[in-house]
Amino acid sequence: MDNTDMKQIQWFPGHMAKTRRLISANLKLVDAVVEVVDARIPLSSRNPEMDRMTAGKPRVILLNKCDLADEKVTDKWISYFGNLGITALAVDCKSGKGLKSFIPTVKTKVLKELMEKREKNGMTGASVRLMVVGIPNVGKSSLINRLAGSRRAKVEDRPGVTRTKQWVKLDNNVELLDMPGVLWPKFEDQNVALKLAFTGAVSDDILDIETLAMKLLVFLKENYPQSLRERYKIDYTDGESGFDLLEKVGKKRGMMISGGEINTERAAITVIDEFRSAKLGRITLEVSEVK
Ligand code: G4P
Repeated sequence: MDNTDMKQIQWFPGHMAKTRRLISANLKLVDAVVEVVDARIPLSSRNPEMDRMTAGKPRVILLNKCDLADEKVTDKWISYFGNLGITALAVDCKSGKGLKSFIPTVKTKVLKELMEKREKNGMTGASVRLMVVGIPNVGKSSLINRLAGSRRAKVEDRPGVTRTKQWVKLDNNVELLDMPGVLWPKFEDQNVALKLAFTGAVSDDILDIETLAMKLLVFLKENYPQSLRERYKIDYTDGESGFDLLEKVGKKRGMMISGGEINTERAAITVIDEFRSAKLGRITLEVSEVK
């Protein structure tokens, strides 16, 4: 993909260093780390230093927003992380789907050894403490709200907004550590930034909306041709460009401006919105190598 027309996203090394220090200082307080990622982009929605930062701690990856992702590909991601020795679960923290098995999986699989040790030592009443981490917008607050069973206030995740760490008590002796600080994804990789923009995880203005939509249409043409045809009732050949496709969508939807020209900006907004709300179907933008 040619991303030379993308604006560089600002990376904040100072904030990142502070968050990294906070995470390592608090790791000793928890039994395991819960890393929330977006199931549509399981690698691009991770912080590049996460493996290093949490080395040595049992970890579970929650492939959140699985309601928006391609189920078959999500299964492959679960195997992919499994091969790396990391338990991964597909969840939808908006509806709560998949969350029932989360705590039991942590206790019986991720923290199996610890739980057996506690059992042996008559310490079954001790709390299980979990640190929740993830880049902005992956659904950390939604997860904690769902598990805590009450609508806790959404706390701003913006740089410069001071937030203290909070423990959230759940039933069954589980405590979640909601970490302050911002963990950035790997913005400097333009392909990663593009995928984050498709999902709405970063502001749209890293690229103009038409370019963003054209790139998405080309991806859909190559990977989900059926979704594209069904949603927009358009026909196209392999050689057609993103712009051709965008014009076809606009024309089909009657998005015209005076003089018979197609309003490609409106068409672009429609394509991006419909992708994000899964009106184009459940689509994953990143495929694992596991067959
Ligand atoms: P964060 O704490 O990691 O920053 O993320 P947060 O929970 O605020 O979630 C970010 C957005 O993602 C929210 O949408 C939230 O509803 C949505 N979301 C979280 N989990 C899921 C999921 O499993 N499936 C789907 N489809 N969406 C999810 P929003 O537009 O900011 O707010 P709203 O739509 O809830 O009003």
